[in-house]
Amino acid sequence: MSAAPRVLVIHGPNLNLLGQREPGIYGAQTLAQLDASLHTLASELGAELTCRQSNHEGVILDWIHAAHGTADGIIINPGAYTHTSVAIQDALRAVPVPAVEVHLSNLYRRESLRQVSMSGVACVGVIMGLGTASYHLALRYLVAEHTARPS
Ligand code: DQA
Repeated sequence: MSAAPRVLVIHGPNLNLLGQREPGIYGAQTLAQLDASLHTLASELGAELTCRQSNHEGVILDWIHAAHGTADGIIINPGAYTHTSVAIQDALRAVPVPAVEVHLSNLYRRESLRQVSMSGVACVGVIMGLGTASYHLALRYLVAEHTARPS
């Protein structure tokens, strides 16, 4: 495929508080800094990037639905909805856009309630525990996957 890959990043609940929220777990970077680093990487890779954050499940569903035809890949950190949201799982299944689920922390090293992902099953892959690099690696994957996709 020749057109620049369009990647949508969806940050879920409480991720607007990055930098001040439990920095020992989620790191010191703010969401604005993370998004800026993703925009820098996207321009290096020749991708078009849109970053959004919401604390509301229905808003996240609407963004996933709208990705059909407007995005070539989705990077999603559903935050705590990861562990509860059948609706986000269904939305990701409903839309034929490859999605990668990302987490800053390693869920397998945390409480048992975080070790189940409702949404990861609807994604092509899950990257976790690498801090903000989880997002960067997902972006690299989706751009490479789009480039290799037959037109
Ligand atoms: C998180 C992990 C979730 O369990 C938690 O509710 C979050 C952030 C992560 O990026 O590590 O909000 O998705």
